[in-house]
Amino acid sequence: PVVAARDAYVLPGLIDPHVHFRTPGLTHKEDWGHGSRAAVAGGVTTVMDMPNTRPASFTAKALIDKAALIEGRSLVDFAFHIGVDPEHPEALADLDTGTARSAKIFMAGHHTAPAVLSDPAALDTAFAAAARSGVRVVLHAEDGGLFDLLDAWWGEPGGYRDYEARRPRTGGIAAVAKVIELVRRHGTAAHVLHLSSAEEADLVCAAQAAGLPVTFELTGHHLSFTDADTCRVGARTRLAPAIRGVRDQDRLWRAVFGEQAATLGSDHAPHTVAEKTRSVADSPPGLPGVQELATAVWTGMRRRAPEEDADAAIGRLVRLMASGPADLFGLPGKGRITPGADADLVLFAPDDTWMFSAAQVRSKCGWSAYEGWTMTGRVRRTFRRGEQVFDAATGAYGAPDGAWLR
Ligand code: NCD
Ligand code: ZN
Ligand code: ZN
Repeated sequence: PVVAARDAYVLPGLIDPHVHFRTPGLTHKEDWGHGSRAAVAGGVTTVMDMPNTRPASFTAKALIDKAALIEGRSLVDFAFHIGVDPEHPEALADLDTGTARSAKIFMAGHHTAPAVLSDPAALDTAFAAAARSGVRVVLHAEDGGLFDLLDAWWGEPGGYRDYEARRPRTGGIAAVAKVIELVRRHGTAAHVLHLSSAEEADLVCAAQAAGLPVTFELTGHHLSFTDADTCRVGARTRLAPAIRGVRDQDRLWRAVFGEQAATLGSDHAPHTVAEKTRSVADSPPGLPGVQELATAVWTGMRRRAPEEDADAAIGRLVRLMASGPADLFGLPGKGRITPGADADLVLFAPDDTWMFSAAQVRSKCGWSAYEGWTMTGRVRRTFRRGEQVFDAATGAYGAPDGAWLR
């Protein structure tokens, strides 16, 4: 990081490798105009979009069609995760890695997951095929059967905390163990998304120590909320995998401070206010976060280690949110401030203290679980390929000109 003014850093544009911008088919929840404005307001200049759209993006053609819909509408550069079609897991062997940066497998079903790939034989085929084409798989690792079983308990006495605490722990641990076993068998590069429990973190770290090519992502949500918030806030913080308790959150923060996590992602997954004000059981899991991610993580980092040197802390944020994801997914010109790289830059004031309110939400969904949070650190300006795309002082946005990173 470069010190730009007495009170601000110039950072490389941040990369959010896990967003759901809902195009095509779900644009009542989010679209690229809103989603990318939220991104640049949060210092993010590159996003990687997920395939659980309608229709789901299972083919190179679907990604080309999606890019055509985005063209002229995005303030940020973008890349895609392609969905793995459960009917044709073998198709991964022929995947053109210039079209999709990685392949997404949903091992468990919920409202917004497309088709689920939980059958052991199909998973085995997918991992073998991905190893052949050299594509990285990224996984929603929860156990499908258990997920469904426990979903039925949602409204039962015993309450939200009990439900949230139990569901993901066992389902997630079983699924992460399964992923590690498949990586061991086939040598496939695998990245576990939105890791949520202490046990899962320990498992993946042990697999890494054994030399397996498996990495994991942490979300701002799992670092920012605990089951106590979930009880209080209700459906707004319902996501999959569920938010867990303080012990888990402490373990995830250890994986931030120790840089065991390869990436931080927002899992920006907007749903409408109407959907999220239904009963907890009937509301779809997911919440917005691309705008909040960097500041929420910075706020947590400073609160948990107030004595830490700010330069050291900001270096870690940049590795987890810029150079780390650029290296993992091979994003050319991104993640670093070096000669020849794209001039994606963020002016970030690390000590600004401010209140995040509903009026500042840029996502089309119009709400945030972080409303009322006192944030530390603020994005002042954001530049994409040398052009200013956001100025916090005036609230002005630049021209949408995002490019598909192939
Ligand atoms: C995501 C969504 O709504 O698309 N929801 C979620 O709870 N995380 C899907 C996903 O990432 O699994
Ligand atoms: Zn997921
Ligand atoms: Zn997601």
